[in-house]
Amino acid sequence: MNISSEVEQCIRDLASRGRTLNCYIYDTRAMREKIRYLADIMPTGVEVFYAMKANPHPAFLKAAFEAGARGIEIASLGEAEKAVAAGFSPEQLIYTGPGKSVEELRWGVEHGIRTIHIESLLEAHRLNAICAEAGKKQDVLLRINADFDIHEAQTTFSGGSKKFGVDEEKLVDVLPRILALQHLQFRGLHVYAASGVLNVADLLKNCELVFAMARRIEADYDGVVCDTIDFGGGFGIDYLETGHDFDPAAYARGLQQLLNEYDFAGRTFFLELGRYLAADSGWFCTEIIDIKESRGKKQVICAGGINHFRRPAALAINHPMAVLHLQRPALFEGQEQVRHEAVYFGGPLCTGADKLANNVLIEAADVGDIAVFGYAGAYGLSMSNIEFLSHQRPEEIVL
Ligand SMILES: Cc1ncc(COP(=O)(O)O)c(C=O)c1O
Repeated sequence: MNISSEVEQCIRDLASRGRTLNCYIYDTRAMREKIRYLADIMPTGVEVFYAMKANPHPAFLKAAFEAGARGIEIASLGEAEKAVAAGFSPEQLIYTGPGKSVEELRWGVEHGIRTIHIESLLEAHRLNAICAEAGKKQDVLLRINADFDIHEAQTTFSGGSKKFGVDEEKLVDVLPRILALQHLQFRGLHVYAASGVLNVADLLKNCELVFAMARRIEADYDGVVCDTIDFGGGFGIDYLETGHDFDPAAYARGLQQLLNEYDFAGRTFFLELGRYLAADSGWFCTEIIDIKESRGKKQVICAGGINHFRRPAALAINHPMAVLHLQRPALFEGQEQVRHEAVYFGGPLCTGADKLANNVLIEAADVGDIAVFGYAGAYGLSMSNIEFLSHQRPEEIVL
């Protein structure tokens, strides 16, 4: 992995302060470019939302706002408040996720957010009662757990038994009951198949399945139109550096073709992207505190572990990484070092699960150098065990 000159300079400046270095560095230029690019290439009617769960740092919200993202996909009241603080209006928020509380739903209704995505019949009734009390009607999408599975994806959100949405085969029972709720305005469907998908054809298959479902619903229920369809997130990132990146232009072409086939022009389509937008705008940088040899393996111990960057351990993958050499003097003669060998990186936590990289080939690393992990802009700090062992929170530095 190459480290940009700006990131390298930032690390060197931080290291010169003489304190143990452990931080995220953010540079949101890539995210801004991606948002603008997607707006250029996507078919008419496609609106790109930033799924802020990927990284709720104000710099990412600002980047989404300034680059013209249509809005923010929120999954909690805390996210809603952060999005509004960053400049988004409540009408630019779409609200997904199972287990929304009464207080959260009430906030959404009272502030007039754009759509609330219903995850169950119970949630529909709860929201209907809140709307009745407020004297309002709320636009909703119904989230479906489609009978469809993207096997190669990092995480699947539909297919099999899931806590997300309503099973596709239960629609016949559930949909009429939701349509009958007076304070909900049914606008369409939300079907999010999987996260971290690199194969464009897989995600397009999901789009086609949703289009077919929308058609069936419109044929079965008089006067019902699915005028808004949310495909969720899912555009992948080539963490393993195989050279096969997700190709958004191919996705846009395929989606346009489907829109033509189904004659769905004029409708609205949501993409709520997290990983694809945010991943390459962040680096986790952590100082090497110790290097030891243990029963034939070199263990490199860093200042931060899964408390600050849990994703590699949670998904059992190595992120691309590099070691920045700071040429710090050894403490004693014969001090352990790494020279062209496969080694293990972990943090300071008292659990064997505290792994940052497994069996990764490193040219050279010494105590005091900085391990830099790429694609850490998405699901980095926000997905980590920050309280475990009460280490100091890593700094988040915005370039
Ligand atoms: C409802 C919903 N939308 C969007 C996303 C963002 O997905 P991704 O980061 O794969 O784009 C997620 C991620 O979990 C999600 O649960």
